[in-house]
Order: sequence, then structure tokens, then C-alpha cells
Amino acid sequence: MEKKKVLIFNGSPRKNGETAFMIKTLQEELGEGYECKTVNAYKADIRPCVDCRWCFTHPGCAIKDEWQEILSYIEECDHVVMASPVYFEEVTGMLLSVLSRLQTYFSARYIRKEEPVPKKKTGGVFLAAGSIGPREKAESTAQMLLRQMSCESLGTVYVNRTDKVPVRDREDIIQEIRTLAQQMKG
Ligand SMILES: Cc1cc2nc3c(=O)[nH]c(=O)nc-3n(C[C@H](O)[C@H](O)[C@H](O)COP(=O)(O)O)c2cc1C
Repeated sequence: MEKKKVLIFNGSPRKNGETAFMIKTLQEELGEGYECKTVNAYKADIRPCVDCRWCFTHPGCAIKDEWQEILSYIEECDHVVMASPVYFEEVTGMLLSVLSRLQTYFSARYIRKEEPVPKKKTGGVFLAAGSIGPREKAESTAQMLLRQMSCESLGTVYVNRTDKVPVRDREDIIQEIRTLAQQMKG
């Protein structure tokens, strides 16, 4: 049987950080039947949208970089997960830079009057805050970005005070991630 496809956006620069641990926990719970592709916002060769407006009249994007492959993956995948540390109460700037390229879907919907991502998906949001967060702005941004990709969010796993207690020592958070993975499995 063909594997289900999961696209994960990782907004953290830290290879073995909190966000990376949350993603690893999700992947372990999803198991063998799932193919996960992770876009690391700090590593990917994906430039920001420059508002060239090519997508006002064409599908896709005029900038030829790794985003071309990600666009295809967004369109065909079954689930999307938005994972980020909280920086200045938001998702990270690098994640927003990468996802500025979703502007092509805004142009599709409101300018070209086309359905940008016909295949519906489910997914969720992971947020790791070192201190008190708070979660609201980052969560609202992450949920809005999921909607751009026709992804219905099944929920947010939010953890704070990670600078005091890392996620690996938080059984409640690990359980929340496992539950979200089970909900994605349907
Ligand atoms: C530039 C910067 C801004 C930050 N802003 C916040 C903040 O607004 N609220 C908060 O609780 N933690 C803040 N933090 C702490 C991070 O959220 C915390 O270290 C997080 O767990 C890192 O996740 P990671 O290991 O996945 O990269 C900030 C850290 C950095 C480097």
C-alpha cells in the first residue's frame, strides 16, 4: 500500500532542540506507514516571496528553488504539521520567510479565481516556548498558514518553560503529540 505523506515545516535552527524533539516524537508515533518530508526553514534553499506578481497570472512560482518541489508536495500530501519555537511571541522569522511563498495560493484563490489546493488535509501545530510564550499570536499565525494549504488543524501542542524543563522530560506533552498522531491516522 502507498504510504501516506506528511509535510512538516520546522521553524527551529536547533538540530537537537525542542521543536526537533517534538517532530521526532510525532514521526515515531506515525510509524512505518507514513512518509515524512521535513522542510527546515534555516537550511532549505527557499527564498522569500518578492511580490513579483507572476502568480497573479500563472500557477506556481517564478522563483526557481527548492520551493518548486515543496509546492508539489503540498498539493499531493495527506497531512501538514507546522512546528516552531516561539520567538518574540511569534513563529520564527525564517519560517515566515519560507512560507511567504504561499502567496501563490492567495493569488490563485482571490486573483486567478482557482482552487489552489484541491486535496484536503489534516494536520496540527507544535509550538515550543522557552519562557512564558505566550501562545496566541504564534498559534493564530500557524493555523492561518495551515489554512492556506487546505489543511484542517486537529489542534496545537504548546509547551512553555522549555528553558527550565525540556520536552523530553514532559510526559504530558509527549502524550499530546502521540494523541495528535493517532488523530491524524484517523
Ligand atoms: C530570538 C529569540 C526569541 C525568543 N522569544 C521568546 C518569546 O517571545 N517567548 C518565549 O517564551 N520564549 C522565547 N524564546 C525562547 C525559545 O522559544 C526557546 O528557547 C525554544 O524552546 C527554542 O526551541 P528550539 O529548541 O526548538 O529551537 C526566544 C528565543 C530566541 C532565540
